[in-house]
Amino acid sequence: MKKAVEQTRTSLIQILANGEFHSGQVLGERLGISRAAIANHIKALQSLGIEVFSVRGRGYKLDKPLNMLSADKILENTKFTQRNQLHIANIIASTNDYIKDHLSNLSSGFCCIAEAQTKGRGRRGRTWVSPYGANIYLSMNWKFSGGYQSIAGLSLLIGLSINRTLNDIGINSAKLKWPNDVYINSKKLAGILVEVEGQVGGDTHAIIGLGLNVSMPTDTKGIDQPFIDLQSLSSTHFDRNEIVAYLLNHLNEMLVEFERCGLTPFLDEYKASDLFCDKPVRLISGTNEVLGISRGINETGALLVEIDGVISAHYGGEISGNEISVRTQ
Ligand code: BTN
Repeated sequence: MKKAVEQTRTSLIQILANGEFHSGQVLGERLGISRAAIANHIKALQSLGIEVFSVRGRGYKLDKPLNMLSADKILENTKFTQRNQLHIANIIASTNDYIKDHLSNLSSGFCCIAEAQTKGRGRRGRTWVSPYGANIYLSMNWKFSGGYQSIAGLSLLIGLSINRTLNDIGINSAKLKWPNDVYINSKKLAGILVEVEGQVGGDTHAIIGLGLNVSMPTDTKGIDQPFIDLQSLSSTHFDRNEIVAYLLNHLNEMLVEFERCGLTPFLDEYKASDLFCDKPVRLISGTNEVLGISRGINETGALLVEIDGVISAHYGGEISGNEISVRTQ
């Protein structure tokens, strides 16, 4: 999308965000374009899943007011992130791709968040459905000064940082599904996609992507597994800016400790929120399938599975158990 078009659409949503009626004429005057151009931009916004109504004689109105992402509000509650380390995109292909594309210019801890993603990516080539203004789509760049082994178990740490954030906002029922999903009531609340870039013998960059469902539109399509959002758990209004700030605080603090000590200091915390610990699981890795009892994780983040009294460590794959029959999004 051209920068000018993107800017116009961002400004248009910002005006509409209060949930009140705005006539095509006034919108056109404020943005310096014709009423017909406004109508076209509105159509484009609708095609992204933004519910904009038009009523003859009154103009355009959002279905409900939008709590938009705001750098000021996020930075108010963040201890670690500086303004130049935060990029808020309106509509972007993928926040992970943004970090990848700008990697050489980004400091460790740099974070990109977006209102919507048009090519949000999940694990194993899946799509991450990313409707506008609804959820958190966040990616962070973290530079590790060791090789690839220095990031073993990283996605488990990110799951823990999400869980700590949920605790901050009063949600204590989340469970972590190895290796990188967050579940509530057997439904997926958040997913993690860690991608790695680096050269042998050099630094390793982890591109830490996470999607957290805050308020999924009721008519959301294209998700092929049970999912849940925060808004369905409580009548409290959840402010995405606050949640992002808490996430950034936990991520920054925990990543520093992880760099020093690995996953070891976090093992007890993981055990307390492990969805499958001491339960029967099926581990699927490519065409391989293993049935056993999950015995948690080790300090490298490997899944420990007990089969006929023998425990072995597994480094890849997806698990399912009695409670969950699908694999991942
Ligand atoms: C999964 O469970 O499959 C992982 C989902 C990861 C989604 C997030 S949203 C922000 C970041 N940008 C992406 O394109 N994907 C990750």
